[in-house]
Amino acid sequence: MKGLLLLCLLLLVGGQRSLACPHPCTCDDKQVNCSGKSLTSASLPTHFPDGITELHLHNNHLTHLPNGILDSQTSLRSISLHGNSWVCDCGILYLRAWLLRQPASVTSHLSVSCSSPPSLRGRQVVSLSEQEILESCHYWYCDLALTSQVCLFVFVVVQAALLVALLVFLRKFERLFKEARRTTEESFTAGESQKENDYTTLRDSDI
Ligand SMILES: *[C@@H]1O[C@H](CO)[C@@H](O)[C@H](O)[C@H]1NC(C)=O
Repeated sequence: MKGLLLLCLLLLVGGQRSLACPHPCTCDDKQVNCSGKSLTSASLPTHFPDGITELHLHNNHLTHLPNGILDSQTSLRSISLHGNSWVCDCGILYLRAWLLRQPASVTSHLSVSCSSPPSLRGRQVVSLSEQEILESCHYWYCDLALTSQVCLFVFVVVQAALLVALLVFLRKFERLFKEARRTTEESFTAGESQKENDYTTLRDSDI
């Protein structure tokens, strides 16, 4: 009975340990080995067991590390990141910041170099300036924002032109209206005096 309980306990602990080891990596004590598993940044485990001291991520297809993925790893003494296709645009900022925070004993032997963009190929991620990284950031929503701003500008200009045209038209219309009224008034008074004239002529002839 005691033996059975012990076995159950062992299985439970074993099960938890294998559960805690993220797929498809292998874990050994405080080492997590995810190397050579064709992992991409999207298929990388989202969480590693807390308190690990060694993490192997080399020889995969990683382009960047998801933000915050290593933040809880305070006991990490060794990490391998070489043999990946790091893309040195905005997405690399987290990895760069993390590497810069680590003691030299962790990062000195590391070779984390950019695969792209072409202008930064082969450069060590830690040696990049923020400016260099930001220059290579081209996101579709930036282009969209720029396009919408240009559209908005054109729209505002067209609106302004239409408003000016409307004002000019109204002015012209007002002038025309005034002129027309004056002419009617003039012809009216002229008609009146004509009538009066006719009347007097009539009366004159009457007499
Ligand atoms: C990590 O795993 C790979 C492939 O699964 C294996 O070749 C390598 O020896 C392992 N490395 C360590 C340190 O366990």
